[in-house]
Amino acid sequence: MSHIFLYGPPGTGKSTIGRILAFNLKLPFVDLDRAIESNAGMSIPQIMGQQGEGIFRDLETSALKKVIKQSESVIALGGGALLRNENRILVETHGKVLCLTAKLETLFKRLNESSQQRPLLAGGLFEKLSSLLEERGAHYSSFPLRFVVDQGSPEENALRAQTVLGRFHLRAMGEYEVVMESVEQVGNLLYAQGLKNPTIVTDENVAFYAEKVVTSLREMSFKPTILTIPAGEEFKNLNTVSFLWKKFLESGLDRKSTVIALGGGVISDAAGFAASTYMRGIHWVAVPTTLLSMVDASLGGKTGIDLPEGKNLIGSFYPPKLVLADPSLLKTLPEVELISGLAEVIKHGILSDPELFNLCARGLDCVKEEMEQVVKRAMAVKIKIIEEDPYEKGIRATLNLGHTVGHAIELASKFQLRHGEAVAIGMVAEARYAERIGIASQGLADRIAEVLTIVGLPIQIPKGLPRDEILRAMKVDKKKNAQAIRFALPVRPGKVELVDVADLEDVLE
Ligand SMILES: NC(=O)c1ccc[n+]([C@@H]2O[C@H](COP(=O)([O-])OP(=O)(O)OC[C@H]3O[C@@H](n4cnc5c(N)ncnc54)[C@H](O)[C@@H]3O)[C@@H](O)[C@H]2O)c1
Repeated sequence: MSHIFLYGPPGTGKSTIGRILAFNLKLPFVDLDRAIESNAGMSIPQIMGQQGEGIFRDLETSALKKVIKQSESVIALGGGALLRNENRILVETHGKVLCLTAKLETLFKRLNESSQQRPLLAGGLFEKLSSLLEERGAHYSSFPLRFVVDQGSPEENALRAQTVLGRFHLRAMGEYEVVMESVEQVGNLLYAQGLKNPTIVTDENVAFYAEKVVTSLREMSFKPTILTIPAGEEFKNLNTVSFLWKKFLESGLDRKSTVIALGGGVISDAAGFAASTYMRGIHWVAVPTTLLSMVDASLGGKTGIDLPEGKNLIGSFYPPKLVLADPSLLKTLPEVELISGLAEVIKHGILSDPELFNLCARGLDCVKEEMEQVVKRAMAVKIKIIEEDPYEKGIRATLNLGHTVGHAIELASKFQLRHGEAVAIGMVAEARYAERIGIASQGLADRIAEVLTIVGLPIQIPKGLPRDEILRAMKVDKKKNAQAIRFALPVRPGKVELVDVADLEDVLE
């Protein structure tokens, strides 16, 4: 992996946010200005006063050359560090630059309250800051990864930085990395994680991506094998897992080996489950290839298989060591599958990211254009929830929005409806119920239905689907002695509440 450089005008909080970001990602933190001072044995105001800006910039370049040789870090840069082209090339070839921006007034207020001396802004702070922003405006805007830090606490902004970077370090059922990277990086990432002896498990529709993965692994001297299984939910079963166990044995996989699940949710569920049980559990890595698996199935550590009696009845909590999501793989995903995955994205928007919800409201073409952003934001929503509640003792149940009715519809349709399609219908039914009982703001169900329709998802229970079968399927979820089922009901975009419902017929009214 490569360094993360935080850049932007003075007062944007590069050092404060950088420290939190480094902690969140479990990386070392370097403040380049402090490194310059420590190398020179004097403070920046002293260097500037005694030796001038030219010498300071030279010291900055040599400090930068030194820190980029160190292990992967979060590095806060000085506000003019990348004005020199040499420095810009250095950082852009050694990592990602995230440029923080804020309004003049915000920066002025923060700098005015700060005790730190800033030689370039000394005497007439407002005027100097204003002309510095004017001079450097085009420079700061030329960095593709940017975000505005006028609002929010440093902690919130560090989380937003992670979303913009597409990089997370999960602390939920153990620790693991979730990164948005090109699939060609899989070899580097496995190596960096100390993972060994990989075997790729994929399905026949995605197998053509296995070559890319193999090439990347071979570049790092791994000797991977590929196991291909037939595509489809009907193969997420014990036969497939038993086939995989046997093949793992034949390929000589031992307790230190790694399974790479390359595919959609069926592959991550089945291969993850096979890895969790083979020799009492070996490492696995998820390389999701569907939208649904990027934003949902590969996150959260649930693996499993179906029984003839029902879906996901056998399984384990067993997180991967790494999740690598490469949205460019979605270009070959059939549109119906993409749209089905969008139901979970819209759900995540309703849960806690109204901007994501509004982005989806702009339609499928817009979603496709903004696919990286869509995936990163939707991932961030689920990650935040599972970090808070990995074993579904509380808030994780909010992820079930649309699923109580959705699962029942999926089952009653005998899986003729895709998971996402059933969840979309479920979300609308549950939102209408939430409005009827006075929890949801008026018009919310219509708005959710509108957005789902815009991206091409169904919103009504198909006519031929008997309500009593849906009700029966919903009751299966109800524990024997439980008086009610806990529903995750929407309140408004960005807020969901958990509500116990005793009379299920009311929900489908
Ligand atoms: N573990 C969890 O937390 C969790 C969460 C949600 C869903 N799931 C499970 O995920 C499964 C559904 O996942 P899914 O929707 O990804 O289905 P899937 O894995 O069946 O993939 C859908 C189809 O798309 C094909 N495909 C996948 N990626 C492709 C690509 N890039 N290009 C071309 N074709 C591609 C597959 O071969 C398959 O035919 C269900 O079994 C569900 O239970 C698990």
